[in-house]
Amino acid sequence: MKLFAGLNDIVKYKEPLSEHTWFKLGGPAKYFIEPRSMEELVDVVKRCHENSVRVYVLGKGSNILVADEGVDGAVIRLSQKAFCKITIDDNKVTVAAGVALSQLMRECARAGLSGLECMAGIPGCLGGALRINAGGRFGDIGSVTQSVKMMDTSGFELERHRSDLYFGYRETNISELFITEATLELVPEDPERIGRSIKEVWVIKKNSQPMYSRNAGCIFKNPRALSAGALIDKAGLKGTKVGGAMVSDRHANFIVAKGQTKAADVLKLIDQVRQAVQERFDVTLELEVEVWK
Ligand code: EPU
Repeated sequence: MKLFAGLNDIVKYKEPLSEHTWFKLGGPAKYFIEPRSMEELVDVVKRCHENSVRVYVLGKGSNILVADEGVDGAVIRLSQKAFCKITIDDNKVTVAAGVALSQLMRECARAGLSGLECMAGIPGCLGGALRINAGGRFGDIGSVTQSVKMMDTSGFELERHRSDLYFGYRETNISELFITEATLELVPEDPERIGRSIKEVWVIKKNSQPMYSRNAGCIFKNPRALSAGALIDKAGLKGTKVGGAMVSDRHANFIVAKGQTKAADVLKLIDQVRQAVQERFDVTLELEVEVWK
């Protein structure tokens, strides 16, 4: 029997992942699956588990680099309606994993709920944001998160509350395969003031980052008390190129891709940057982007 028999409506084969990532790079996924309900998600996850198929969870593709060879497994994306709901109840907001951060921020602002302004200009969806505790200098998603629903590799669903969750700098203790939903607690505020804050954060980002290019956000995490961007910049690496991949001359912790760039070019450039910073400052840079091989 075929692995995904009966699921033709939601399974694609050899889907090019370049179409689903901000870098617009990388090879195909053996299986590309977009479940329409929790039941379908559980079904798919169980079939993968029972057949030892590796699962990759895709959000909006804004923090990943897919290898040119693609991935030999199932890429699952929670992009269908059932995984894109927002429910506002007083100052509690229940958000499904596939909701875009930008949409979430807009709807909360309209409802007069403050706490997400710090996410302005951050791409991605709620699930991906929680996975890496996305944020910036003004705050992160973890600090407003009250509870998270998740699912493990065998399709078992569970919920964890604030006291049992940890969010640090670009890390969390959520290690389950899927984040499916979260409840955020926000603070009532005048929508106009929220709108102004969003604009301020957005302008700062726009002025310091290459926002309209093919990239995956910051490539490296900031080492403790240091800035990866500043180190790469001081090492004189802005503008360094491998193929069509270049260290951004706007913000050195970004790599931008042009034309026929290969994922291998980006990977080579990452190695060069890491090596140069190691030699010059004796600092080991750790990847922030997720590399799918
Ligand atoms: N800097 C340079 N040269 C550069 C880039 C930065 O000298 O090319 C200096 C800046 O002048 C500043 C310092 O480095 O003094 C820090 O730079 P910035 O304020 O741009 O912040 P960052 O630490 O590089 C972090 C997040 C960003 C987030 C911004 C703004 C990390 C790795 N990056 O950047 O997040 O947007 O703060 O809040 O934590 C991401 O995670 O993908 C991301 C883009």
